[in-house]
Amino acid sequence: MKIIAISNQKGGCGKTTVATNLSAALAQKGQKTLLIDMDPQSHATIGLGILKVDPFHSIFGLFVNEIRKGKPIKEIATNLENNLDIVPSHIIMSTVEHELKEREDGLLILTKAINRSDLAYDYIVIDCPPNLGFLTFNALRAANEIIVPVEASAFSIMGVGKLISMVELIKIKLHHAPHVKGLVNMYDEYSDFAERMVGKIKYIFKDKLLKTIISFDISLRWAQEKSESIFKCEPKSRAAHDYLALADELLAFDREESSENIYQEMRKILHGVYGNVYSKEKVFRFYAPKAKEVYIVGDFNNWKMDTSNLLERKKNGDWEKSFYLLPGKYRYKFVVDGLWFWDPQNTEKEPNPYGDFDSVFQI
Ligand SMILES: Nc1ncnc2c1ncn2[C@@H]1O[C@H](COP(=O)(O)OP(=O)(O)O)[C@@H](O)[C@H]1O
Ligand SMILES: [Mg+2]
Repeated sequence: MKIIAISNQKGGCGKTTVATNLSAALAQKGQKTLLIDMDPQSHATIGLGILKVDPFHSIFGLFVNEIRKGKPIKEIATNLENNLDIVPSHIIMSTVEHELKEREDGLLILTKAINRSDLAYDYIVIDCPPNLGFLTFNALRAANEIIVPVEASAFSIMGVGKLISMVELIKIKLHHAPHVKGLVNMYDEYSDFAERMVGKIKYIFKDKLLKTIISFDISLRWAQEKSESIFKCEPKSRAAHDYLALADELLAFDREESSENIYQEMRKILHGVYGNVYSKEKVFRFYAPKAKEVYIVGDFNNWKMDTSNLLERKKNGDWEKSFYLLPGKYRYKFVVDGLWFWDPQNTEKEPNPYGDFDSVFQI
């Protein structure tokens, strides 16, 4: 199950439009999809035709579940069309931050609710509010991927830096490293300005920018006015075409990612049977005698901070773990008790999109 949060602290850059139409596009492609509306303004809920919501059957019901008996996701999710369900929002959601933010596990409420219910979706898409507060933090913590829609206009780029620092904060505080992907939205192919903006957006996101571009298309606004997805309202529009292309790109990426995982597993097995044919062993070592835990994260393990990437403590104060890797160039960092470090034993470093540096090595 892939969980994608649509986030950018700037309002009006197209989060809700992306969340609703991407969910509908994934459903069109046969993926069982759940859209979670985390924004108390409920634009995604209204935009897909749900005009009246009982607060306890909204995302609010799920959050109060944490304090008193409320509803699990399965009971709140409402079917919209074939393959597409929604957990609607409600304006009362704007009060939960005040009530829950002091709780130690407050930022994990959505993650826990998703993990607890045994959900049979291929994709969960979360529409975030336009700020970097408690609700957005909950969504980013639950997500394994974050799509940042960036309007091809000058002002929307400013919010991106803040969002990226928020993701860094999540990595550090909550030991969670979702992938961030940029998405160019409202692109006007006849404007030189839009072209220049795409250049800037590419510079920020580099290879993390989605190839699909969502063009400016007025039919998205008509669809919103009619409280319908673009596929119901204007299925032949440019926008409908763009959103199907976006769904295809994500699906292709996820297939590749899972085949890459299988490939890694096979390589391990083959290595066990035939010895080291192609891959080379790379030992990672970090000296931290007082640390409680040390992780290695890099592009070879999808920057995942889980037990398979935990280093083993040695008697001399070193922490160690080895990987078998194919020839290539790799980036990595150590995470020592929640803090990120370069490899002090490796002088090779390169800047990363977060304004910081990663250690690099070549096999
Ligand atoms: N590709 C697009 N072309 C034209 N209008 C768009 C496009 N994407 C979004 N919009 C419009 O821009 C406005 C803001 O979008 P919205 O999704 O509500 O942004 P956010 O959720 O980030 O505040 C809405 O009126 C929406 O219909
Ligand atoms: Mg919105």
